[in-house]
Amino acid sequence: MMVEIIHISDLHYGSEFVGEYFDNIIKYIEDAKPDVVICTGDLVHKGRIKEFKAILPYIQKIREITRFVAVPGNHDAKNSGLVYYEKIIGPRRSRMLLDDKDTILVGICSARDDMSEGMIGDEQLDFTGRCFNKNLENRILALHHHLIPPPLSGQKFTTVRDAGEILELTQLFEVDLVLMGHRHVPHAYIFDNNRTDTIFLYCGTSTSNKVRANDSPCFNHIFLEKGDLEVYMVNSTNLEKNLLLERREGLTKFVRPRRTRIEHLLTSEVWDE
Ligand SMILES: [Fe+2]
Repeated sequence: MMVEIIHISDLHYGSEFVGEYFDNIIKYIEDAKPDVVICTGDLVHKGRIKEFKAILPYIQKIREITRFVAVPGNHDAKNSGLVYYEKIIGPRRSRMLLDDKDTILVGICSARDDMSEGMIGDEQLDFTGRCFNKNLENRILALHHHLIPPPLSGQKFTTVRDAGEILELTQLFEVDLVLMGHRHVPHAYIFDNNRTDTIFLYCGTSTSNKVRANDSPCFNHIFLEKGDLEVYMVNSTNLEKNLLLERREGLTKFVRPRRTRIEHLLTSEVWDE
């Protein structure tokens, strides 16, 4: 069975947030009617109750259309916001079984109270392992921080402190897809494991102008079926859609959406002559 997912991230209500972008996304979700919408954190900018209350009507609109799962980001955890995140948005970690789609989705909390760095910890590692220790075809993990740093994302320490443990878990349990946000970089890495590749997919900021370099606010539209995968990157400002990644019969093609630092360096004139 094919599972269809819309992956949004880093909404940042409270700073450079553009409601019009969110309206576009809701329109897109209405048309696509995906099985689930996943938000990988930073729903608000400062973790304030007012911000959570203000973003809630947008989230409710999504919930009226389809299932919705979110994990908190470091900005949601600012000013002890995690407590209010759980009261207003939902649990900080979750497990969703899509029985009819042979799919399990696990969302874990990498955010820590008032810290920009991330960590998962043994308790959540254990929880995640137990969730994936089932014979389900499609396995998806969502978290805010990175397991592998994406390119051109700045020099901050952006991976969770125990990234190695989580990476191993994705390989042992043959996770199909790892969804992340945090540094507003649309990107993907592909790890070859025995059964099928694990795809590490990063989402840009979906509803704010907090973009890096010349990126656009965007979100990911994902189709997953028995290891075959299609991912489109959709521009939130005009809903223009471009193929980001495609996997057929174990062969994955990644269409790099942006120039990386080394590509910029190699085309500069500095070393000529
Ligand atoms: Fe973040």
